[in-house]
Amino acid sequence: MARRRLGQLVLCLGLCDVSQAVEDCSTGAFTYPDVFGAEFVSLSAAPVEDWKLNTTTPEGALIPTSGLSFCNVTLLYHHPGQNDNTNVQVWLPLQGWNERFVGVGGGGFAAGKLNGENLAATVNLGYAASVTDAGHDSQTWSRAPWVLNSQGNFNYPLIYNFATLSIHDMTIIGKAITQQYYGRAPKYSYFNGCSTGGRQGVTSAQRYPEDYDGILAGAPAINLPDLTVSTYWPQSVMDRLGYYPSKCELDAINRLSVEACDALDGVKDGFIADPDACDFDPQTVVGQTVDCGNGTSVRISTQTASIVRAIREGPTGADGKSLWVGTAHGTPFTGALALANTNCSEGGVSNCTGVPFPMAVDWIKNFTRRDPGYDVTKMTLADLETNYYLGRQQLGPIIAANDPDLSRFRALNRKLLTWHGLADECITMRGSRLYYDRVLQVDQNASDYFRHFEAPGVNHCAAGAGAFYPLRALAALTRWVEGGIAPDVLIGYKLPNATTIAADPQASRPVCRYPQVLRYKGGDVGSYGSFGCAARDAKETTGVPAARRRDEL
Ligand SMILES: *[C@@H]1O[C@H](CO)[C@@H](O)[C@H](O)[C@H]1NC(C)=O
Ligand SMILES: *[C@@H]1O[C@H](CO)[C@@H](O)[C@H](O)[C@H]1NC(C)=O
Ligand SMILES: *[C@@H]1O[C@H](CO)[C@@H](O)[C@H](O)[C@H]1NC(C)=O
Ligand SMILES: *[C@@H]1O[C@H](CO)[C@@H](O)[C@H](O)[C@H]1NC(C)=O
Ligand SMILES: *[C@@H]1O[C@H](CO)[C@@H](O)[C@H](O)[C@H]1NC(C)=O
Ligand SMILES: *[C@@H]1O[C@H](CO)[C@@H](O)[C@H](O)[C@H]1NC(C)=O
Ligand SMILES: *[C@@H]1O[C@H](CO)[C@@H](O)[C@H](O)[C@H]1NC(C)=O
Ligand SMILES: *[C@@H]1O[C@H](CO)[C@@H](O)[C@H](O)[C@H]1NC(C)=O
Repeated sequence: MARRRLGQLVLCLGLCDVSQAVEDCSTGAFTYPDVFGAEFVSLSAAPVEDWKLNTTTPEGALIPTSGLSFCNVTLLYHHPGQNDNTNVQVWLPLQGWNERFVGVGGGGFAAGKLNGENLAATVNLGYAASVTDAGHDSQTWSRAPWVLNSQGNFNYPLIYNFATLSIHDMTIIGKAITQQYYGRAPKYSYFNGCSTGGRQGVTSAQRYPEDYDGILAGAPAINLPDLTVSTYWPQSVMDRLGYYPSKCELDAINRLSVEACDALDGVKDGFIADPDACDFDPQTVVGQTVDCGNGTSVRISTQTASIVRAIREGPTGADGKSLWVGTAHGTPFTGALALANTNCSEGGVSNCTGVPFPMAVDWIKNFTRRDPGYDVTKMTLADLETNYYLGRQQLGPIIAANDPDLSRFRALNRKLLTWHGLADECITMRGSRLYYDRVLQVDQNASDYFRHFEAPGVNHCAAGAGAFYPLRALAALTRWVEGGIAPDVLIGYKLPNATTIAADPQASRPVCRYPQVLRYKGGDVGSYGSFGCAARDAKETTGVPAARRRDEL
């Protein structure tokens, strides 16, 4: 690097702007940024050439297998007195910087993944990019041993970092390091994240609107206290019924619901485009025999139908009152990030037990009860209701990220683009709709700066087989911010699974802007132009009963 810089200086003498020749990726070339309340411990910088990694996210599929080269700057800081050593990585393209900065979000309990594929994918697109670990392990998304200092006692600094402060600190650090390296500030700054990353983005719009020109938030884990208690709801229904259906039976009911409502958009393609128009009643398939392979079969039971109905309608308290939004028809019950998994013996169809989503258990034990010994399987409906109450009271103001007042964001001419998969098995897409609707109630013109999109068949921050994923939504956001072109539709790309772009990368379909829905217009179903976005029928769209919405708004 030093030699290259010297060469540039010699070439540039008297001929070009010497201020361009500042790209020095050595530890001594950087100084600590000025971050209110923070004290830096260390900084290291070194170039990384032709770095390769295995991708596990759709965005990761944008990384070329040939390897990535960047300046790797790592800073360690803490907030004095808070015992919260925090790592921030800033990766700077060695060549072809596009003069923009992107803050990259995390997933699950990880605030961001150091050396992660989303960071790498962003740098590969030419952005300077940054992640933070918020002061706790960045590689573990499903567990949060850091939440409690001891039984009954929250580690408030780490929770606050995870909720909001770490992204703000990281943004100041990331922009400053970018400016130091290239000798000029980024022209535009963006945030990009999904799930926890989506929540971080929406939080940033609410609390730190000065940080980003544009924010892309996928499947945002907003309303976190309500959401995370709700991720145990399917298991809680099964616990109280003492009945755990097999994967075969649960998958069959979901398949039957998709079959019933797939064609409502005009074409049978394996996905429900408008789940609210679907009136599939699981009771109507009770008694049907399902082939589970290997010579086993199950009959769909009344219990399973009532479990499915409870999951779709969403959690209720002891008096039947809605506690939180439900899920959409077509959303899987089983899978790595799903909420109704079970474990069965005898060819996988009988003698089943519940397998909760790990975060749900950690949340209720540690975030809500502050008691690692709390037994979630014993919760009554009244206990469940108490846990919603406790979650909202203790942590809502810190981490719910659902303030509908975006007036400061609007005043700064910022742009927020959210999207959600309509078959998100982990975070229900109804929470995103509810937030969007509430923002519109506060500001009827909010779509000037906040737009929400829904992707049929898309699962949690990943595309199931054949679904169309809004892989390049960041490009749509930059056009909105920099070119004033507000997106009316996103392009969904077919990803056969989370790791590979389809053999035909042109295979694409519109991802419509809520409250519009996808409609088949006719023609080749493989063609983008055969689909359009149409107004939905005027009806309840948030999945929240009107009575509860009056309480909430
Ligand atoms: C990628 O995955 C392969 C196979 O699982 C493994 O051998 C290799 O070490 C991984 N590479 C990286 C950089 O993690
Ligand atoms: C970046 O630097 C940090 C600190 O030295 C190191 O832990 C990390 O592995 C580096 N990342 C890569 C991709 O080399
Ligand atoms: C059938 O049995 C084989 C061998 O036990 C097992 O590997 C496979 O996963 C089973 N298939 C199904 C659909 O359960
Ligand atoms: C399923 O049950 C088997 C047998 O009891 C056990 O070994 C396995 O760990 C369980 N799997 C899960 C995901 O709970
Ligand atoms: C059912 O599961 C229990 C506990 O996992 C086990 O002890 C029992 O043997 C199983 N019964 C059958 C019929 O598989
Ligand atoms: C809850 O907190 C305790 C104590 O910090 C920790 O050991 C544990 O891993 C956390 N999660 C669960 C599920 O208990
Ligand atoms: C909404 O926008 C329209 C057209 O720009 C404007 O006339 C109206 O005053 C705005 N309403 C509010 C509440 O800002
Ligand atoms: C992902 O898709 C590719 C290409 O279709 C296939 O080879 C691979 O096995 C798939 N991986 C998984 C985990 O389904």
